Amino acid sequence: MNILVLNASPKGKNSTTVHTALYLQALHPEHTFTFVPVGQRIKSYEKDFAPLRAELEKADLLLFTYPVYTFIAPYQLHRLIELIKENGVELAGKFASQITTSKHFYDVTAHRYVEENCFDLGMKVVRGLSADMDDLLTEQGQREARAFFEQLIFSCTHGLFAVPPVHAPERTKEVYRPALPSVPKSRSKDVVIVTNCAPNDENLQNMIADFRAALPYESRVVNLREFPFSGGCLGCFGCAVTGKCVYKDGFDEFLRTKIQSADAFVYAFTISDHYTHSSFKCYDDRQFCNGHRTVTHGTPIAYLISGEYQYESNLRMIVEGRSEVGGNYLCGVATDEGNTAADIRTLADSLVFALEKKLSRPANFYGVGGMKIFRDLIYIMQGMMKADHKFYKEHGIYDFPQKQKKRILQMKLVGALISIPSVQKKMKGQMNQYIIGPYQKVVEQAANSRKTSE
Ligand SMILES: Cc1cc2nc3c(=O)[nH]c(=O)nc-3n(C[C@H](O)[C@H](O)[C@H](O)COP(=O)(O)O)c2cc1C
Repeated sequence: MNILVLNASPKGKNSTTVHTALYLQALHPEHTFTFVPVGQRIKSYEKDFAPLRAELEKADLLLFTYPVYTFIAPYQLHRLIELIKENGVELAGKFASQITTSKHFYDVTAHRYVEENCFDLGMKVVRGLSADMDDLLTEQGQREARAFFEQLIFSCTHGLFAVPPVHAPERTKEVYRPALPSVPKSRSKDVVIVTNCAPNDENLQNMIADFRAALPYESRVVNLREFPFSGGCLGCFGCAVTGKCVYKDGFDEFLRTKIQSADAFVYAFTISDHYTHSSFKCYDDRQFCNGHRTVTHGTPIAYLISGEYQYESNLRMIVEGRSEVGGNYLCGVATDEGNTAADIRTLADSLVFALEKKLSRPANFYGVGGMKIFRDLIYIMQGMMKADHKFYKEHGIYDFPQKQKKRILQMKLVGALISIPSVQKKMKGQMNQYIIGPYQKVVEQAANSRKTSE
């Protein structure tokens, strides 16, 4: 089989991920592997796509090989998918799969993103391998890589493919015209609208205009397409030590002073390729200069999204997951799928409400799970990720179970007591009553304090 390895890591031949593909090549001389460092060559493909087109057309199987970057794929791979689609490369009927390495932080959304785009291209998608960064160095990791490849070839020969998600029905998009009158503005809050709105994107422009009109605060718009990015994140980890990006385009300073300083963030984009135009992904990845520090914890977030958001379950998970992990209060998402003007007005009201009430909500699985991965990662890498380590210590993020000594002791005591047969007999059926006691007290206190305030 002709296997084209699309190595989308910006580190090229020094990529961890590509070494899994190299390992498989070493074991399988019966297949032809061609490696292309697409992550490093993305700028040259923007100028001339022909060399890659030839490789793509020759291949039987495309193996997307990349690191997970901020919930999805690196900017370079997002750009590549755009170029493949723009250039109309005929890939229908070919096989597609993927290998990623990561710390398993939202590897699921990355895989879904690549799968969804392969489905768009009419490809036969085989479940990929999501390995930990260190897996190839272990016997088990090597065994799992070999098993993945055997399963991949089996799937290609036996026709075992992933099931495509439900697509939005074909319909012509209605143009959204501005509909909301402007309310008086106060300068008491600084709201920044971060967008990658294209000059000809009428719907998104009008949605932003209406949101600004309905918002009773002054707002600023940052258009990422206008920021002079020198390029996507290089994954060099230069910033982990110094906190400064190796690029000299001033993005880290811009991020800290013009975006993170705001009282609320509104992200505005149009859906394309199951995320949005790659300019947004460049912005996402370059925020790595901030490490894993949740520096905007508590700042409310709202989204204005143009496109068929209801059909993009993976994107919805990304939107929610990002707010959860960042500790940002997600006020809502307004789209142009239905009652656009009313939705935009409600979103503006909801943002005001969140700001005034300083709302917060407990993190759900997306947030708690994500932060536990970061906690363990930074604890181990504390020697290198010094700024992250300091932040985690200061903000009590190192909540390892062993730190809850009192609770562990309490539980040991309870365990010892209930293993005594006479205590067991006495407590039979009463365990839940003991547990619920403190909760009942809270409810009683609330009722009492309401009565006294009346
Ligand atoms: C900008 C950036 C973003 C990252 N985002 C994630 C992430 O969302 N989830 C995760 O588990 N690892 C993340 N990582 C870690 C990489 O996925 C991991 O180091 C990977 O193994 C690097 O592979 P490579 O050497 O092939 O580039 C990120 C690393 C960088 C530099």
